[in-house]
Order: sequence, then structure tokens, then C-alpha cells
Amino acid sequence: MKRSRLLVRLRRLQRLGLHTLGLLIAFSLGILLILPALTQQPVTLNLLMHVPEATQWRSLIQAFEAKNPDIRINLVEAPNDTNLEEDLYTSAFLLGSSPYDLVYMDIVWAPKFAAAGWLQDLTDRVSPVELAAFIPADVEGGRYEGGLYRIPFRSDVGMLYYRKDLLQQAGYKPPETFADLMQASQTLQDQGATRFGYVWQGRQYEGAVAMFVEVLKGHGGFWIDPQTQAVGLDQPAAVQAVEFLRSTIALGVSPPSVTTYNEDEALRPFQSGEAVFMRSWPFAWPQVNGPDSPIRGKVDIQPMVHAPGAESGACQGGWGLGISKTTKYPEAAWRAIQFFTSEAAQRQFILENAYVPSRRSLFNDPQIVQKYSYYPRLLEVVDSAVLRAPIAQYAQASDILQRYLSVALTERQSPQSAMQAAARETRLLLGDIQTAGKKGSLTA
Ligand code: GLC
Repeated sequence: MKRSRLLVRLRRLQRLGLHTLGLLIAFSLGILLILPALTQQPVTLNLLMHVPEATQWRSLIQAFEAKNPDIRINLVEAPNDTNLEEDLYTSAFLLGSSPYDLVYMDIVWAPKFAAAGWLQDLTDRVSPVELAAFIPADVEGGRYEGGLYRIPFRSDVGMLYYRKDLLQQAGYKPPETFADLMQASQTLQDQGATRFGYVWQGRQYEGAVAMFVEVLKGHGGFWIDPQTQAVGLDQPAAVQAVEFLRSTIALGVSPPSVTTYNEDEALRPFQSGEAVFMRSWPFAWPQVNGPDSPIRGKVDIQPMVHAPGAESGACQGGWGLGISKTTKYPEAAWRAIQFFTSEAAQRQFILENAYVPSRRSLFNDPQIVQKYSYYPRLLEVVDSAVLRAPIAQYAQASDILQRYLSVALTERQSPQSAMQAAARETRLLLGDIQTAGKKGSLTA
């Protein structure tokens, strides 16, 4: 009896002991698993972005960080000029391991960055169905040789802003042709209703190229055919496009200083009521209609004018996100891209800042249309927008056009000879690309 009682006690003790041991092991394992999560620093993703957009992103970043406490976004500010920002990214990449994990890209940089091997291919991360929700040209801008390197965050499209009050007062309808724009400008200038007619981006930089492809298309011309790589800069339509821009200055419709203007500098005289027309992007809308704007409520927006018989041209712009090849945190970076390019995040950003969505559904979104009634019309313009040539050597092709456009606009060379030289250099560049491509050594 005594022996069996002893055995029972012993077994109970053994069971208890094993149980306690099991509990102890489970507890320590738990601690081991939880501890790093408790003590781990959040991952920091670096992102370079131009001001003022960097400031406009702050609330979006706060929303992302609130939902993702294990990720922090460190915004590094860049100047508000796409060329300068591209140079900053380029020099960082050329140094080897990029300090930036997320890459915020203008639509025209993606092929170059991808060809240089600076970006991760995102093809397998996103399904064709998910991509179909975006504007096709925006997605195309992020592709290079079958890979996908940039997810569109916001689209962009060049538009003509006009003073509806001044046109009405002088009995003019919104202009359709370049001649209409010139006539309305000159009449209003003669009447003393305005100092200038038309302001646009004439400085030697990427913005002038975006402006020029619109005037070019409006004259029936083209820059580089993406399919055939034919160059159209020395065709009569291109020369006429430059002549039109020169005439705006020669006739005093545009100020001589327009050849030094970027988007902000064109906005200043328009906003202070000194011009009837302005070529810009939709970002300017909240500013011209801001509470302190002298022209608040007096402005409307429409597609760019064109020559009789030709189509209106709108330049396809836009910005999107990619992941740097050398980042240590590709998964965190992808979570950030998914969040920022989502419908909800874009809606918030657009309601706050009036940029153009990259998701088609948002152009007819009730909240957005209630605030900006012209968005459904904007979608039509976006759908027919002109892409700047999506080639790896885009920066060089754009630089050629910028230089010759600038010498022609500042009357250092005739439109014809400047455009002939631009066409010649562009053909040489594209010829080099084709030869290098055949040799299989195409790099940026
Ligand atoms: C806008 C456009 C961009 C373009 C730039 C030129 O930011 O979105 O595509 O290159 O303007 O200044």
C-alpha cells in the first residue's frame, strides 16, 4: 500500500515537474520571440522629394506611420526642379549603395534608372488586374524592357488656365486655336485690362520640354516617335511651333522674361492678375483659387489650344514610387508603396492638394468632384496626353531639345536652324542607342 501511494505521489510530482518545465520553456520561448519585437527599432525608409510636395506629403506619412508603427519615413527635401532632383538621385546612385530606399520618380526618369540597374523590378509584386486600375500611360511610363519599376502615385497633365471674367468682359469665348489666344490677349492688352496675355515655362529645363511637346502636337508635329524612333524636330510643324512661341514674346503677349520662367515664376504674374492665360499643371488650381488670391473664382481651366485642323496636345507628366536596388528593407518599402498608391491615400492627397490621381476611379469620385468639378473633364485630357519618349537616354534627348529651344527662344539662332541642329543631334543620340542596343550593351 505504502509503496503504491509513494508511486502515485512520485508520478504526480513528475507530471507537475514536466508541466512546470513545459511552462518554463514556453515562457522563455515567448520572451525570446517577443523581446526583439519589443526592443526592435522601427525600420527607417529614406525618401528624397522636392518641396513644396515634401511638405504636402507630411499628413500622408503620418497616416502611414500610425498604421505601420514598425516603419518610419525620413523625408529628405530636394529643390523644386525635376532636373536638379534627378541629378541628386543620380549622384547618390552612382556612389554605389544609395541612401534612398524609396525612389520618387518623375515619369521621364524611370527608363534611365531601370536601365542603369538602380531599381528593383516590381512585376511580380502587382497583378495585371491591380495595374488596370491605373491610367495606362502612367503605368507605361514605369516600364522598361518588360520590367515594371515605378508604381504611379499621381498623374499630371499640362492645361491652359484662363481668366473667364476678362474674356467675358471683352466678349470672347475660351480660345480654341493659337490665333484665338493671341487675339484675345492683344485686345485685352490694348484695352488696358491686363499687362500680359500669356505666360508659360520658357527656362532651359525639363518644364520647357513639357510645354513644347504640347505646342508641337498642337501644330501637328512630334518629337521622337516611340515606335520608329523617327525624329520630327526639323519638320515644318516643329519650326512653326517655335515660331509661335517666339511671336508671343515679339508681340508683347508674353513678357521677355518668360524665357527664364519655370512653373512658379509663370504662376506669379498670372496669380497677381497680370496675365489672361497661363500654361501649367493642375497643382496651380488651389493656389489661384486660394483665400488670398486676387483672382480667386475668376479662373477656368481647359485643354491647350491648337492650330486649325490639328489636335490639342497635353503633356503627360506624373510621379511614382520605386524601390532602390540596394535597400535593406524591400518589404517595408513595398508596404509603403502599397499604402501611398492606394485609392484612400490618393483621395486624401488630392482633396488636400488638387493633384491629378493616377487611379481612374478617382476622377469621378463624389468627394473629389464635389470639391473640384473639372476632374471628370481632366480624365479626357489625361487619356489623350502625349508621353515624352520613354527611352533610357531621355535625359540626353531632353537636354538637346532644351538647349536648342532656349537658343531659338532667346533669338540666338533662327527657329529653323536651331531645330535642324536639335534634330541632327537627337538622331545621332538615337543612332548610338540603336548601335549599342544591337551590341547588347545598352546602359544609361
Ligand atoms: C511636373 C510633371 C513632370 C514634369 C515637370 C516639369 O512636375 O509632373 O512630369 O517633368 O513638371 O517641370
